[in-house]
Amino acid sequence: MIKRPIIIDTDPGIDDAVALAIALYSEELDVRLITTVAGNVDVDKVTYNALRLLKFFEKEVPVAIGANQPLIKEPIDASNVHGSTGMDGYDFDEPDYHLVVKENAVNAMYKEIINSEEPITLVPIGPLTNIALLLKLYPEIKDNIKEIVLMGGSTARGNAGVLAEFNIFADPEAAKIVFKSNLPIVMAGLDVGLQALVYPEDSEKLKTMNHTGNMIYHLFQKYRGGSMKTGLKMYDSCAIAYLLKPEMFEVADTFIDVELTGSLTTGATVVDLKGYLKQPNNAKVCTSLDPVMFKEWFLSSLQKCN
Ligand code: RIB
Ligand code: CA
Repeated sequence: MIKRPIIIDTDPGIDDAVALAIALYSEELDVRLITTVAGNVDVDKVTYNALRLLKFFEKEVPVAIGANQPLIKEPIDASNVHGSTGMDGYDFDEPDYHLVVKENAVNAMYKEIINSEEPITLVPIGPLTNIALLLKLYPEIKDNIKEIVLMGGSTARGNAGVLAEFNIFADPEAAKIVFKSNLPIVMAGLDVGLQALVYPEDSEKLKTMNHTGNMIYHLFQKYRGGSMKTGLKMYDSCAIAYLLKPEMFEVADTFIDVELTGSLTTGATVVDLKGYLKQPNNAKVCTSLDPVMFKEWFLSSLQKCN
């Protein structure tokens, strides 16, 4: 089987860690590069976390360090959700730094994309700062980008602002650049992230499933993206799930833009499902996810890990 080449841009992040596990152990995905971006915590911490995960998974994937600041606004973080380290809950071994390439994330993505025989899918699961910089610095690589499948946004309410989801809210200017890129985009936002839930009985299965499941079980004890009672939200796994099992999702072609100047609504993804703005469609939005299919897929995907 030809594996789909992807680059994951990430801010681990406990739900990022789960998404990375599924992607790295999938027989269908070829993770060419992991780029890090400040989001849940600062870029040094998310890079450290990405490296600790790769050591844990025993996967030799190059890592490139990206932006530590949003394009315009002051940084925010989500340490209240992921802990002060960004990935509290498990005592990982110290990472090897040999996986860190000398190029920054933007130049490393450029090199990987421009030299790839196969068009590459970008999978951003953190703020879109690196992706926006890539598209502005090197517009010519758009021809070799197959699709952008991102976790972010919401057709309705937010989780970082009243109407703003964290990844978009953290760098709304970057998000606007990405949605205006004319690239094929799939937005896996809160509409599906809030249906991608893990409950205590699932977490108990992970505890004894395998080495990775046990690690994730321990991270879940500290994860505050939801609660054990109401379900832990596997936001970032939705982007990977779309790549591997798109039939779990209901998807709509639509026009999406990002609010930058609303005093109450900055960072909101404006998803014009009814065409009020009379703009051409520029993205697909995942509007719903089959929770039963997701749970089955989620657990069987983690079963493949070491
Ligand atoms: O809103 C959820 C997103 O914000 C996820 O990517 C999570 O990791 C946090 O970055
Ligand atoms: Ca993330």
